[in-house]
Amino acid sequence: MLWLSIDRTSDIPLIRQIYLELRRQILRGELSSGQRLPSSRELAAHLGVSRNVVLEAYDQLISEGYLESKSGSGTYVAQGAYWELTSDQGITVQPSDRSFIVTTADLIDFRSGIPALDHFPRKLWGELTKRVCLEASAAAFGYSTPEGCLELRSVLAQYLRRTRGVHCQPDQIVITSGAAQAFSLVGQLLLSAEDTIALENPTTPEIREIYSTLGAGLDLIPVDDRGIQTQWLPASKPPKFILVTPSHQFPLGSVLTIQRRIELLQYAKATGSYIVEDDYDSEFRYSGTPVSSLQGLSPESVIYIGSFSKILSPALRLGYLVLPLEMVQACRRLKRLIDLHSSTFEQLALAEFIQAGHLERHIARMKKLYRQRRDTLKQLLNEYFPEQVRISGDSTGLHLVAELNEIDFSPDRLHKIEQQRIRIYPMSIYAPSQEKYQKQIVMGFGNVAIEDIKLGIQRLKRGVME
Ligand SMILES: Cc1ncc(COP(=O)(O)O)c(C=O)c1O
Repeated sequence: MLWLSIDRTSDIPLIRQIYLELRRQILRGELSSGQRLPSSRELAAHLGVSRNVVLEAYDQLISEGYLESKSGSGTYVAQGAYWELTSDQGITVQPSDRSFIVTTADLIDFRSGIPALDHFPRKLWGELTKRVCLEASAAAFGYSTPEGCLELRSVLAQYLRRTRGVHCQPDQIVITSGAAQAFSLVGQLLLSAEDTIALENPTTPEIREIYSTLGAGLDLIPVDDRGIQTQWLPASKPPKFILVTPSHQFPLGSVLTIQRRIELLQYAKATGSYIVEDDYDSEFRYSGTPVSSLQGLSPESVIYIGSFSKILSPALRLGYLVLPLEMVQACRRLKRLIDLHSSTFEQLALAEFIQAGHLERHIARMKKLYRQRRDTLKQLLNEYFPEQVRISGDSTGLHLVAELNEIDFSPDRLHKIEQQRIRIYPMSIYAPSQEKYQKQIVMGFGNVAIEDIKLGIQRLKRGVME
Protein backbone atom coordinates (compact mmCIF):
# COMPACT_ATOMS: atom_id res chain seq x y z
CA MET A 1 0.00 0.00 0.00
CA LEU A 2 1.04 3.52 -0.78
CA TRP A 3 2.92 5.13 2.12
CA LEU A 4 1.61 8.55 3.04
CA SER A 5 2.30 10.50 6.20
CA ILE A 6 -0.50 12.61 7.60
CA ASP A 7 -0.56 14.57 10.84
CA ARG A 8 -3.87 14.76 12.64
CA THR A 9 -2.64 17.41 15.06
CA SER A 10 -1.69 19.79 12.26
CA ASP A 11 -3.71 22.89 11.33
CA ILE A 12 -3.43 21.86 7.67
CA PRO A 13 -6.68 20.13 6.55
CA LEU A 14 -6.37 16.41 5.76
CA ILE A 15 -7.41 16.91 2.12
CA ARG A 16 -4.57 19.40 1.69
CA GLN A 17 -2.06 17.11 3.43
CA ILE A 18 -2.91 14.15 1.17
CA TYR A 19 -2.83 16.38 -1.91
CA LEU A 20 0.57 17.86 -0.98
CA GLU A 21 2.12 14.51 -0.13
CA LEU A 22 0.98 12.84 -3.38
CA ARG A 23 2.06 15.85 -5.41
CA ARG A 24 5.52 15.79 -3.79
CA GLN A 25 5.95 12.06 -4.49
CA ILE A 26 4.89 12.49 -8.14
CA LEU A 27 7.21 15.47 -8.73
CA ARG A 28 10.15 13.63 -7.19
CA GLY A 29 9.47 10.49 -9.21
CA GLU A 30 8.76 8.38 -6.12
CA LEU A 31 5.42 7.67 -7.83
CA SER A 32 6.22 7.10 -11.48
CA SER A 33 4.07 7.82 -14.50
CA GLY A 34 1.58 5.10 -15.31
CA GLN A 35 1.61 3.79 -11.73
CA ARG A 36 -1.85 2.90 -10.45
CA LEU A 37 -2.96 4.49 -7.20
CA PRO A 38 -5.08 2.62 -4.64
CA SER A 39 -8.79 3.21 -5.00
CA SER A 40 -10.20 6.03 -2.90
CA ARG A 41 -12.00 3.49 -0.73
CA GLU A 42 -8.77 1.50 -0.07
CA LEU A 43 -6.67 4.56 0.69
CA ALA A 44 -9.35 6.04 2.95
CA ALA A 45 -9.54 2.81 4.94
CA HIS A 46 -5.76 2.59 5.11
CA LEU A 47 -5.39 6.16 6.40
CA GLY A 48 -8.46 6.05 8.61
CA VAL A 49 -10.10 9.05 6.94
CA SER A 50 -13.43 9.45 5.19
CA ARG A 51 -13.57 8.45 1.52
CA ASN A 52 -14.62 11.99 0.54
CA VAL A 53 -11.32 13.35 1.84
CA VAL A 54 -9.36 11.09 -0.52
CA LEU A 55 -11.75 11.74 -3.41
CA GLU A 56 -11.32 15.51 -3.08
CA ALA A 57 -7.52 15.22 -2.96
CA TYR A 58 -7.57 12.95 -6.05
CA ASP A 59 -9.93 15.36 -7.89
CA GLN A 60 -7.61 18.28 -7.23
CA LEU A 61 -4.60 16.34 -8.53
CA ILE A 62 -6.57 15.22 -11.59
CA SER A 63 -7.62 18.81 -12.35
CA GLU A 64 -3.98 19.95 -12.15
CA GLY A 65 -2.78 17.14 -14.42
CA TYR A 66 -0.79 15.08 -11.89
CA LEU A 67 -3.23 12.15 -12.03
CA GLU A 68 -5.60 10.76 -14.62
CA SER A 69 -8.63 8.66 -14.10
CA LYS A 70 -9.44 5.85 -16.50
CA SER A 71 -13.05 4.88 -16.28
CA GLY A 72 -13.58 1.42 -14.92
CA SER A 73 -9.88 0.82 -14.29
CA GLY A 74 -8.76 3.35 -11.62
CA THR A 75 -6.54 6.38 -11.04
CA TYR A 76 -3.00 6.61 -12.49
CA VAL A 77 -0.01 8.93 -12.27
CA ALA A 78 -0.01 11.06 -15.45
CA GLN A 79 2.88 11.33 -17.94
CA GLY A 80 5.30 14.27 -17.70
CA ALA A 81 4.73 15.29 -14.10
CA TYR A 82 8.21 14.34 -12.89
CA TRP A 83 10.48 17.28 -12.10
CA GLU A 84 14.10 16.75 -11.18
CA LEU A 85 14.78 19.10 -8.30
CA THR A 86 18.00 21.00 -8.99
CA SER A 87 18.64 21.66 -5.32
CA ASP A 88 19.22 17.91 -4.96
CA GLN A 89 22.09 18.03 -7.46
CA GLY A 90 24.82 19.09 -5.08
CA ILE A 91 24.28 22.83 -5.44
CA THR A 92 24.00 24.46 -2.08
CA VAL A 93 23.12 28.09 -1.44
CA GLN A 94 25.52 29.74 0.96
CA PRO A 95 23.95 31.84 3.73
CA SER A 96 24.01 35.58 2.98
CA ASP A 97 26.94 37.60 4.23
CA ARG A 98 25.69 38.79 7.60
CA SER A 99 28.69 40.92 8.41
CA PHE A 100 26.56 44.01 7.68
CA ILE A 101 24.18 43.05 10.43
CA VAL A 102 25.20 43.99 13.93
CA THR A 103 23.63 41.34 16.14
CA THR A 104 25.87 38.95 18.06
CA ALA A 105 25.29 39.34 21.76
CA ASP A 106 28.27 40.61 23.70
CA LEU A 107 30.32 41.36 20.58
CA ILE A 108 31.26 45.04 20.50
CA ASP A 109 31.27 45.98 16.85
CA PHE A 110 33.02 49.19 15.76
CA ARG A 111 31.64 48.93 12.23
CA SER A 112 31.64 52.28 10.47
CA GLY A 113 28.62 53.97 8.96
CA ILE A 114 25.96 52.55 11.29
CA PRO A 115 23.87 55.21 13.06
CA ALA A 116 22.57 54.76 16.63
CA LEU A 117 19.86 52.22 15.80
CA ASP A 118 18.19 52.52 19.21
CA HIS A 119 17.70 56.27 18.67
CA PHE A 120 15.55 55.98 15.55
CA PRO A 121 12.51 58.25 16.12
CA ARG A 122 10.12 55.28 16.20
CA LYS A 123 7.11 57.00 17.69
CA LEU A 124 7.16 59.94 15.32
CA TRP A 125 7.88 57.76 12.30
CA GLY A 126 5.08 55.41 13.31
CA GLU A 127 2.64 58.31 13.60
CA LEU A 128 3.68 59.72 10.25
CA THR A 129 3.42 56.43 8.37
CA LYS A 130 0.04 55.78 9.98
CA ARG A 131 -1.18 59.21 8.94
CA VAL A 132 0.14 58.74 5.39
CA CYS A 133 -1.59 55.38 5.16
CA LEU A 134 -4.92 56.74 6.40
CA GLU A 135 -4.91 60.04 4.55
CA ALA A 136 -3.13 59.42 1.24
CA SER A 137 -5.31 59.42 -1.87
CA ALA A 138 -6.34 56.09 -3.41
CA ALA A 139 -3.89 56.81 -6.25
CA ALA A 140 -1.00 56.55 -3.78
CA PHE A 141 -1.80 52.83 -3.45
CA GLY A 142 -1.10 52.25 -7.14
CA TYR A 143 2.10 52.46 -9.18
CA SER A 144 4.00 55.73 -9.07
CA THR A 145 6.64 57.38 -11.27
CA PRO A 146 10.20 55.99 -11.36
CA GLU A 147 11.80 59.21 -10.15
CA GLY A 148 9.81 59.08 -6.88
CA CYS A 149 7.14 61.25 -5.27
CA LEU A 150 7.12 64.93 -6.13
CA GLU A 151 6.35 65.73 -2.47
CA LEU A 152 9.69 64.24 -1.39
CA ARG A 153 11.71 65.58 -4.31
CA SER A 154 10.41 69.11 -3.68
CA VAL A 155 11.28 69.25 0.02
CA LEU A 156 14.57 67.49 -0.68
CA ALA A 157 15.59 70.08 -3.29
CA GLN A 158 14.98 72.87 -0.74
CA TYR A 159 16.70 70.97 2.07
CA LEU A 160 19.77 70.26 -0.06
CA ARG A 161 20.04 73.88 -1.19
CA ARG A 162 19.75 75.14 2.40
CA THR A 163 22.06 72.67 4.11
CA ARG A 164 24.46 71.46 1.42
CA GLY A 165 24.52 74.22 -1.20
CA VAL A 166 23.23 71.78 -3.84
CA HIS A 167 21.64 73.54 -6.84
CA CYS A 168 18.82 71.55 -8.35
CA GLN A 169 15.19 71.42 -9.36
CA PRO A 170 12.99 68.60 -8.03
CA ASP A 171 13.02 67.20 -11.59
CA GLN A 172 16.74 66.51 -11.36
CA ILE A 173 16.23 64.16 -8.41
CA VAL A 174 15.66 60.41 -8.66
CA ILE A 175 14.79 58.63 -5.40
CA THR A 176 16.71 55.35 -5.11
CA SER A 177 16.95 52.35 -2.85
CA GLY A 178 19.85 53.78 -0.84
CA ALA A 179 23.08 55.17 -2.21
CA ALA A 180 23.95 51.61 -3.20
CA GLN A 181 21.34 51.62 -5.96
CA ALA A 182 22.40 55.12 -7.00
CA PHE A 183 25.98 53.84 -7.56
CA SER A 184 24.67 50.99 -9.71
CA LEU A 185 22.38 53.24 -11.73
CA VAL A 186 25.24 55.62 -12.51
CA GLY A 187 27.43 52.72 -13.62
CA GLN A 188 24.73 51.19 -15.82
CA LEU A 189 23.92 54.56 -17.36
CA LEU A 190 27.43 55.67 -18.17
CA LEU A 191 29.65 52.65 -18.66
CA SER A 192 30.28 50.66 -21.80
CA ALA A 193 32.89 48.04 -22.63
CA GLU A 194 36.51 49.12 -22.16
CA ASP A 195 35.56 52.13 -20.00
CA THR A 196 37.50 53.00 -16.88
CA ILE A 197 36.49 54.98 -13.81
CA ALA A 198 38.60 56.67 -11.15
CA LEU A 199 38.06 55.82 -7.49
CA GLU A 200 39.70 57.14 -4.37
CA ASN A 201 42.21 54.83 -2.73
CA PRO A 202 41.22 53.90 -0.05
CA THR A 203 37.52 53.41 -0.69
CA THR A 204 34.83 50.90 0.29
CA PRO A 205 35.17 47.37 -1.10
CA GLU A 206 31.45 47.50 -2.00
CA ILE A 207 31.98 50.42 -4.37
CA ARG A 208 34.96 48.68 -6.01
CA GLU A 209 32.86 45.55 -6.41
CA ILE A 210 29.82 47.33 -7.87
CA TYR A 211 31.87 48.82 -10.69
CA SER A 212 34.18 45.89 -11.36
CA THR A 213 31.07 43.69 -11.63
CA LEU A 214 29.82 46.08 -14.32
CA GLY A 215 33.07 45.46 -16.17
CA ALA A 216 34.74 48.84 -15.59
CA GLY A 217 38.51 49.20 -15.30
CA LEU A 218 39.34 50.82 -11.95
CA ASP A 219 41.93 53.58 -11.70
CA LEU A 220 42.74 53.92 -8.00
CA ILE A 221 43.86 57.45 -7.16
CA PRO A 222 45.71 58.04 -3.86
CA VAL A 223 44.30 60.26 -1.14
CA ASP A 224 46.06 62.39 1.47
CA ASP A 225 44.97 64.82 4.17
CA ARG A 226 43.66 67.21 1.50
CA GLY A 227 41.53 64.62 -0.27
CA ILE A 228 42.02 62.94 -3.65
CA GLN A 229 45.43 63.71 -5.17
CA THR A 230 44.28 65.25 -8.42
CA GLN A 231 47.76 65.20 -9.97
CA TRP A 232 47.44 61.40 -10.33
CA LEU A 233 44.31 61.55 -12.49
CA PRO A 234 45.20 59.86 -15.80
CA ALA A 235 46.46 62.19 -18.53
CA SER A 236 45.56 59.75 -21.29
CA LYS A 237 42.36 57.66 -21.45
CA PRO A 238 40.26 59.76 -19.08
CA PRO A 239 37.83 57.94 -16.82
CA LYS A 240 34.08 58.00 -17.52
CA PHE A 241 33.67 59.40 -14.04
CA ILE A 242 35.62 60.10 -10.88
CA LEU A 243 33.88 59.02 -7.68
CA VAL A 244 34.83 61.13 -4.67
CA THR A 245 33.75 61.74 -1.07
CA PRO A 246 34.82 65.42 -0.89
CA SER A 247 33.10 66.48 2.34
CA HIS A 248 34.48 63.57 4.36
CA GLN A 249 36.76 61.19 2.53
CA PHE A 250 35.76 57.61 3.23
CA PRO A 251 37.46 56.23 5.23
CA LEU A 252 40.43 58.58 5.87
CA GLY A 253 38.22 61.53 6.83
CA SER A 254 39.97 64.35 4.97
CA VAL A 255 38.09 67.27 3.38
CA LEU A 256 38.85 68.04 -0.26
CA THR A 257 40.47 71.49 -0.34
CA ILE A 258 39.08 74.21 -2.59
CA GLN A 259 42.26 74.11 -4.73
CA ARG A 260 41.81 70.40 -5.40
CA ARG A 261 38.06 70.91 -5.98
CA ILE A 262 38.87 73.39 -8.70
CA GLU A 263 41.54 71.10 -10.20
CA LEU A 264 39.05 68.24 -10.20
CA LEU A 265 36.37 70.33 -11.91
CA GLN A 266 38.87 71.63 -14.47
CA TYR A 267 39.98 68.07 -15.20
CA ALA A 268 36.37 66.94 -15.61
CA LYS A 269 35.61 69.81 -17.98
CA ALA A 270 38.75 69.24 -20.04
CA THR A 271 38.25 65.49 -20.40
CA GLY A 272 34.43 65.29 -20.49
CA SER A 273 34.42 63.04 -17.39
CA TYR A 274 31.64 63.32 -14.83
CA ILE A 275 32.33 63.67 -11.12
CA VAL A 276 30.23 61.50 -8.81
CA GLU A 277 29.98 63.08 -5.36
CA ASP A 278 29.10 60.65 -2.55
CA ASP A 279 27.92 62.88 0.32
CA TYR A 280 27.21 60.11 2.79
CA ASP A 281 27.52 61.59 6.30
CA SER A 282 28.64 65.23 6.14
CA GLU A 283 25.66 66.40 8.25
CA PHE A 284 27.62 65.37 11.34
CA ARG A 285 30.40 67.96 11.32
CA TYR A 286 31.82 68.59 14.81
CA SER A 287 34.28 71.42 14.19
CA GLY A 288 34.68 74.24 11.70
CA THR A 289 32.02 75.38 9.27
CA PRO A 290 29.97 72.93 7.20
CA VAL A 291 31.62 72.02 3.92
CA SER A 292 29.49 72.86 0.89
CA SER A 293 28.88 70.32 -1.82
CA LEU A 294 31.00 70.08 -4.92
CA GLN A 295 27.78 69.92 -6.93
CA GLY A 296 27.01 73.55 -6.03
CA LEU A 297 30.17 74.64 -7.90
CA SER A 298 29.33 72.80 -11.11
CA PRO A 299 25.85 71.24 -11.31
CA GLU A 300 26.37 70.31 -14.96
CA SER A 301 29.33 68.03 -14.37
CA VAL A 302 28.60 66.61 -10.90
CA ILE A 303 26.27 63.70 -10.12
CA TYR A 304 25.41 64.07 -6.44
CA ILE A 305 24.48 61.01 -4.35
CA GLY A 306 22.91 61.22 -0.89
CA SER A 307 21.35 58.77 1.52
CA PHE A 308 19.11 58.62 4.59
CA SER A 309 20.98 55.58 5.91
CA LYS A 310 23.29 57.51 8.23
CA ILE A 311 20.97 60.36 9.24
CA LEU A 312 17.94 58.14 9.88
CA SER A 313 18.23 54.40 9.27
CA PRO A 314 19.76 52.08 6.67
CA ALA A 315 16.64 49.91 6.91
CA LEU A 316 14.59 52.59 5.11
CA ARG A 317 16.63 51.95 1.95
CA LEU A 318 16.14 55.52 0.79
CA GLY A 319 18.74 57.50 -1.09
CA TYR A 320 18.77 59.80 -4.09
CA LEU A 321 20.60 61.03 -7.13
CA VAL A 322 20.81 64.67 -8.19
CA LEU A 323 21.60 64.53 -11.90
CA PRO A 324 22.81 66.88 -14.58
CA LEU A 325 19.73 67.57 -16.72
CA GLU A 326 20.85 65.53 -19.72
CA MET A 327 20.95 62.33 -17.65
CA VAL A 328 17.48 62.60 -16.10
CA GLN A 329 15.36 60.84 -18.74
CA ALA A 330 17.73 57.91 -19.17
CA CYS A 331 17.98 57.45 -15.41
CA ARG A 332 14.19 57.45 -14.94
CA ARG A 333 13.89 54.85 -17.68
CA LEU A 334 16.53 52.62 -16.09
CA LYS A 335 15.04 52.94 -12.61
CA ARG A 336 11.64 51.95 -14.08
CA LEU A 337 13.16 48.89 -15.74
CA ILE A 338 14.84 47.82 -12.51
CA ASP A 339 12.08 48.19 -9.91
CA LEU A 340 9.44 50.66 -11.22
CA HIS A 341 9.96 52.95 -8.22
CA SER A 342 10.85 52.99 -4.52
CA SER A 343 8.12 52.55 -1.88
CA THR A 344 5.61 55.42 -2.01
CA PHE A 345 4.61 55.31 1.67
CA GLU A 346 8.17 55.58 2.97
CA GLN A 347 8.73 58.50 0.61
CA LEU A 348 5.58 60.34 1.69
CA ALA A 349 6.38 59.84 5.37
CA LEU A 350 9.90 61.11 4.79
CA ALA A 351 8.61 64.16 2.91
CA GLU A 352 6.47 65.06 5.93
CA PHE A 353 9.35 64.35 8.29
CA ILE A 354 11.58 66.82 6.45
CA GLN A 355 8.83 69.39 5.80
CA ALA A 356 7.88 69.62 9.48
CA GLY A 357 11.52 70.20 10.50
CA HIS A 358 11.88 66.83 12.25
CA LEU A 359 14.88 65.78 10.18
CA GLU A 360 16.97 68.79 11.12
CA ARG A 361 15.99 68.47 14.79
CA HIS A 362 16.85 64.76 14.72
CA ILE A 363 20.23 65.47 13.14
CA ALA A 364 20.99 68.15 15.77
CA ARG A 365 20.13 65.70 18.58
CA MET A 366 22.16 62.90 17.05
CA LYS A 367 25.13 65.17 16.48
CA LYS A 368 25.31 65.80 20.23
CA LEU A 369 25.17 62.08 20.93
CA TYR A 370 27.81 61.23 18.32
CA ARG A 371 30.07 63.99 19.57
CA GLN A 372 29.95 62.45 23.07
CA ARG A 373 30.69 59.00 21.67
CA ARG A 374 33.55 60.32 19.53
CA ASP A 375 35.07 62.24 22.46
CA THR A 376 34.84 59.20 24.73
CA LEU A 377 36.46 57.00 22.12
CA LYS A 378 39.31 59.48 21.56
CA GLN A 379 39.87 59.95 25.27
CA LEU A 380 39.99 56.20 25.94
CA LEU A 381 42.27 55.47 23.00
CA ASN A 382 44.68 58.09 24.34
CA GLU A 383 44.38 56.71 27.86
CA TYR A 384 44.92 53.04 26.99
CA PHE A 385 47.51 53.58 24.24
CA PRO A 386 49.44 56.65 25.43
CA GLU A 387 52.29 57.77 23.15
CA GLN A 388 51.23 55.04 20.77
CA VAL A 389 48.01 56.15 19.12
CA ARG A 390 47.48 58.79 16.43
CA ILE A 391 43.89 59.71 15.71
CA SER A 392 42.71 61.33 12.48
CA GLY A 393 39.61 61.88 10.36
CA ASP A 394 37.44 62.63 13.38
CA SER A 395 36.07 66.08 12.53
CA THR A 396 32.98 64.69 10.80
CA GLY A 397 30.81 61.61 10.63
CA LEU A 398 30.42 58.35 12.46
CA HIS A 399 33.96 56.96 12.45
CA LEU A 400 37.59 57.89 13.04
CA VAL A 401 40.94 56.43 12.07
CA ALA A 402 43.34 55.21 14.76
CA GLU A 403 46.96 54.38 14.00
CA LEU A 404 48.70 52.29 16.63
CA ASN A 405 52.44 52.51 16.53
CA GLU A 406 54.25 49.16 16.38
CA ILE A 407 51.08 47.19 15.83
CA ASP A 408 50.38 45.53 12.50
CA PHE A 409 46.77 44.52 12.05
CA SER A 410 47.63 41.21 10.43
CA PRO A 411 44.94 38.47 10.10
CA ASP A 412 46.51 36.73 13.10
CA ARG A 413 46.34 39.89 15.23
CA LEU A 414 42.76 40.55 14.15
CA HIS A 415 41.80 37.01 15.13
CA LYS A 416 43.28 37.53 18.60
CA ILE A 417 41.37 40.81 18.92
CA GLU A 418 38.09 39.20 17.83
CA GLN A 419 38.58 36.51 20.48
CA GLN A 420 38.17 39.34 23.00
CA ARG A 421 34.66 39.88 21.58
CA ILE A 422 35.43 43.13 19.84
CA ARG A 423 35.36 43.71 16.08
CA ILE A 424 37.50 46.36 14.46
CA TYR A 425 38.18 47.04 10.79
CA PRO A 426 41.74 47.33 9.45
CA MET A 427 42.40 49.99 6.85
CA SER A 428 43.70 47.20 4.58
CA ILE A 429 40.04 46.31 3.80
CA TYR A 430 39.69 49.68 2.12
CA ALA A 431 43.15 49.90 0.60
CA PRO A 432 44.35 46.42 -0.27
CA SER A 433 48.09 46.00 -0.78
CA GLN A 434 48.96 49.43 0.62
CA GLU A 435 51.69 48.84 3.19
CA LYS A 436 51.49 52.33 4.65
CA TYR A 437 48.06 51.70 6.15
CA GLN A 438 49.04 48.45 7.90
CA LYS A 439 48.92 50.00 11.39
CA GLN A 440 45.59 51.79 10.94
CA ILE A 441 42.08 50.80 11.89
CA VAL A 442 38.72 52.43 11.10
CA MET A 443 36.52 52.71 14.18
CA GLY A 444 32.83 53.47 13.79
CA PHE A 445 31.21 54.83 16.97
CA GLY A 446 27.70 55.70 15.72
CA ASN A 447 26.02 52.58 17.06
CA VAL A 448 28.26 51.92 20.10
CA ALA A 449 26.97 53.17 23.47
CA ILE A 450 29.42 54.94 25.81
CA GLU A 451 29.56 51.91 28.15
CA ASP A 452 30.41 49.62 25.23
CA ILE A 453 33.07 52.01 23.98
CA LYS A 454 34.75 51.73 27.42
CA LEU A 455 34.50 47.96 27.45
CA GLY A 456 35.56 47.77 23.82
CA ILE A 457 38.78 49.70 24.33
CA GLN A 458 39.69 47.53 27.34
CA ARG A 459 39.16 44.47 25.14
CA LEU A 460 41.16 46.01 22.30
CA LYS A 461 44.04 46.56 24.70
CA ARG A 462 43.93 42.90 25.76
CA GLY A 463 43.71 41.74 22.13
CA VAL A 464 46.66 43.87 21.13
CA MET A 465 48.82 42.86 24.12
CA GLU A 466 48.37 39.08 23.70
C1 LIG B 1 30.91 55.71 1.81
C2 LIG B 1 29.55 55.09 1.67
N1 LIG B 1 28.70 55.59 0.78
C3 LIG B 1 27.47 55.03 0.61
C4 LIG B 1 27.07 53.92 1.30
C5 LIG B 1 25.75 53.25 0.99
O1 LIG B 1 24.73 53.57 1.80
P1 LIG B 1 23.22 53.18 1.50
O2 LIG B 1 23.11 52.30 0.31
O3 LIG B 1 22.75 52.48 2.74
O4 LIG B 1 22.51 54.47 1.30
C6 LIG B 1 27.91 53.39 2.24
C7 LIG B 1 27.47 52.21 3.02
O5 LIG B 1 27.99 51.85 4.04
C8 LIG B 1 29.19 53.99 2.44
O6 LIG B 1 30.04 53.49 3.34
